[in-house]
Amino acid sequence: MRIGIPTELKDNERRVGMIPDGVAQLVKHGHEVVIQSGAGEGSGYLDVDYVSRGATIGTQKDVWDCDLVVKVKEPIESEYPFLREDLVLFCYLHLAAEPELTRALVDAGTTAIAFETVTSARGDLPLLTPMSEIAGRLSVQTGAQLLTAPAGGPGMLLGGIAGVAPVNVTVVGGGVAGAQAVDVAVGLGAQVTVLDINTATLRAFNQRYEGKVRTIASTPDNIAEELRRSHLVIGSVLVPGAKAPKVVTEEHLRSMPEGAVVVDIAIDQGGCTAASQPTSHSNPIFSFGPVTMYCVTNMPGAAPKTATIALANETLPFVVQLANQGAEQALQNNIHLKAGLNVAQHEVVHEAVKDALGL
Ligand SMILES: NC(=O)c1ccc[n+]([C@@H]2O[C@H](COP(=O)([O-])OP(=O)(O)OC[C@H]3O[C@@H](n4cnc5c(N)ncnc54)[C@H](O)[C@@H]3O)[C@@H](O)[C@H]2O)c1
Repeated sequence: MRIGIPTELKDNERRVGMIPDGVAQLVKHGHEVVIQSGAGEGSGYLDVDYVSRGATIGTQKDVWDCDLVVKVKEPIESEYPFLREDLVLFCYLHLAAEPELTRALVDAGTTAIAFETVTSARGDLPLLTPMSEIAGRLSVQTGAQLLTAPAGGPGMLLGGIAGVAPVNVTVVGGGVAGAQAVDVAVGLGAQVTVLDINTATLRAFNQRYEGKVRTIASTPDNIAEELRRSHLVIGSVLVPGAKAPKVVTEEHLRSMPEGAVVVDIAIDQGGCTAASQPTSHSNPIFSFGPVTMYCVTNMPGAAPKTATIALANETLPFVVQLANQGAEQALQNNIHLKAGLNVAQHEVVHEAVKDALGL
């Protein structure tokens, strides 16, 4: 099979869909890998590194002409003309928040498998997990920076200092991203509260942090009460495949302290606050009432050397299976890969995505 790896085009997106080691494994299985010239540079891989493992270097058209295209982020509008019926696309898609891309994939008849809905026998989302971990850790670093005065914030240090109270950090959604956010916030000395609808998740925080982290059931009243006193809120809720529930209202945001920061990690699924709008690394923040909102849809793109390797570690076994068996057979043989199938034969086939798009 011919496998194409394009250069990512999203703002400040320096990750790449495959590392040279992945090329070597695919070539060993008899496949041909075409890398767009320069695609790996932002992650520290030169064309020569790929060529030395058996890849050929091509243009944007060359890679999109392949049978299977593996990339990181969802195609942007300028890439829609490359979509076609006999193409298998394997990348993040987040279609619940992307009706135009959904239409382009359906019209083209592309077989589109979304990283974020592929499942595992452990019951998690193995291709979302590493990026959620990175976004979760970055969210607190970013929030801490935005609370400082030179960044336009109120001038607060996350962990406080002897005689001065720490900042209140509230994490809404204590899954993979939320857990990493809690870990970094606790490490920096903040006063951390986590809200989730899953009591078992909250119990695990109680045990792990021995009561140092406050855990509270996620209800509208509890969110209202916590946000009134929060200087940094991390939004990290997820209902897999679906549009993120808007658990934080405009009223909640308006009640927050002046200069408070909201990092809405869930923006790739539409965002979990009523005011969330997608932003980019070039222009990451906007104001809403007293709050600075940060809603970058590709946060791990800021740490490409870490993120590319972490992602490639998880995606490669699926890419090898797709290449060795062909998409139809691989999807039949592997229920976890099949859970990633979002669009096939001119139709959206993932139930949660269908519901989210009102189809
Ligand atoms: N912006 C980015 O660059 C970026 C990067 C990676 C991941 N993400 C996104 O981060 C989000 C979180 O991903 P994850 O892997 O941590 O998901 P996850 O499934 O591990 O965790 C989601 C958590 O949200 C909780 N939840 C669901 N509804 C809730 C509600 N009403 N109130 C409170 N909690 C609720 C769930 O119980 C779960 O614990 C996803 O939207 C994911 O796509 C964004």
